[in-house]
Amino acid sequence: MAKPLTLEKILFSQGFGTRRYCSDLVYADLVKVNGVLAEDPEEKIPPENLQLEVDGQAWEFHEKAYVAFHKPVGYECSHKTSHHPSVYGLLPQPLIERGIQCVGRLDWDTTGLLLLSDDGQFIHKMTSPKKNIGKIYDITTAEPITQKQIDHLLNGVILDDDPKPCFAKACVQKEDKLLAMTIVEGRYHQVKRMLAAAGNHVAGLHRSTIGAYTMPTDLAEGQWRWLYPQDLQELGKNIDIA
Ligand code: URA
Repeated sequence: MAKPLTLEKILFSQGFGTRRYCSDLVYADLVKVNGVLAEDPEEKIPPENLQLEVDGQAWEFHEKAYVAFHKPVGYECSHKTSHHPSVYGLLPQPLIERGIQCVGRLDWDTTGLLLLSDDGQFIHKMTSPKKNIGKIYDITTAEPITQKQIDHLLNGVILDDDPKPCFAKACVQKEDKLLAMTIVEGRYHQVKRMLAAAGNHVAGLHRSTIGAYTMPTDLAEGQWRWLYPQDLQELGKNIDIA
């Protein structure tokens, strides 16, 4: 059992502003705790399974934020974007305030499963190639995919910035021009460059799965959801991530 914390500290930890501002939210009758209007920012509350409502916004308490987001096309995974708006603009302000970061990046024109967290250790573990966490990309290709190209991807292609070959861990051809490819690294534009090196071209890219966690079918583009211990297990399977 985590020890009780003052309501002011709880609100601050969740990204609702400075401690002073969080106190003022309570005094302004803008905070409900498990459905009951709060009166005292110094009140001590056990944080487990805590349901807050802040200025009309329902908010689950999470000591650390682990989030799955369905990235739409046309957004960059960066705070300082160059040509397109930022994915961070599609997420609620408290998550931004508490410093969540993308776990690896997807290109502006890639869609699909993007993880975000404010847990630096988790981000490090999830992005380390040593942890061998597979990521599955559904690749729509410009030309029909050939067996020779699949063999090339599985046997390793050389990208222009590294003499070490880059391997697909698995390839499943779903249609003439649709390939599900699993990779474990996260090099710059890796999938696009691998396909080009194998003699094809990516026309559309969607990440469906990380580890054993697949994008929930009811998570629409632009939507996010909390990840729970069971989801974190699926993401990491063999690694100790939570
Ligand atoms: N590989 C790419 O080329 N682009 C992505 O967005 C992700 C992986």
